[in-house]
Amino acid sequence: MWRPHSCGAAVAGMVVALLLQAIPAAAQSPVRTPPSAAAAAAAGDATRGEQLYQSRCGACHSLDANRVGPRHRNVFGRRVAAVPDFHYSAALRKRTFTWDAATLDRWLENPGALVPGTTMGFRVSSAQDRADIIAYLRDHSAPSSP
Ligand code: HEC
Repeated sequence: MWRPHSCGAAVAGMVVALLLQAIPAAAQSPVRTPPSAAAAAAAGDATRGEQLYQSRCGACHSLDANRVGPRHRNVFGRRVAAVPDFHYSAALRKRTFTWDAATLDRWLENPGALVPGTTMGFRVSSAQDRADIIAYLRDHSAPSSP
């Protein structure tokens, strides 16, 4: 049985300390569910994004060569439809916004909703997948790219 001598008090103190450590971790857990598109992009995992990019986007895109779609290096922070030697749709060419976390998220969720008439019809339904892909694209755009 437990007796109230100094050793027992020390054990009790450790238990209290462990419980106190556990409380902030539990309080943080809801934060892992991103509350908005911008937060989702901020939380994106670029390593997972690279795999998603290669499997989902790789048929039509690469970082450095135009394919069915335009090349993507430096797309984050660049104006829409700005690769000079890619033949964009008229619908995309007449737009003037910049690709950032929010516009890329809306684009990947549904390109035709953001830019009616675009020739890209591919959609990514998972917000986490979009965030991870966007993190990958951001990592391969200036100024963070080496
Ligand atoms: C089936 C082919 C196809 C797939 C798959 C595809 N795209 Fe595209 N993408 C295109 C085409 C075509 C365009 C040009 C659209 C236009 O001109 O209207 C484009 C354009 C874009 C643009 C605009 C680039 C710029 O220079 O303005 C971005 C960003 C983009 N795609 C991202 C992605 C990502 C990320 C994925 C994977 C999740 C993906 N695309 C999958 C065909 C595809």
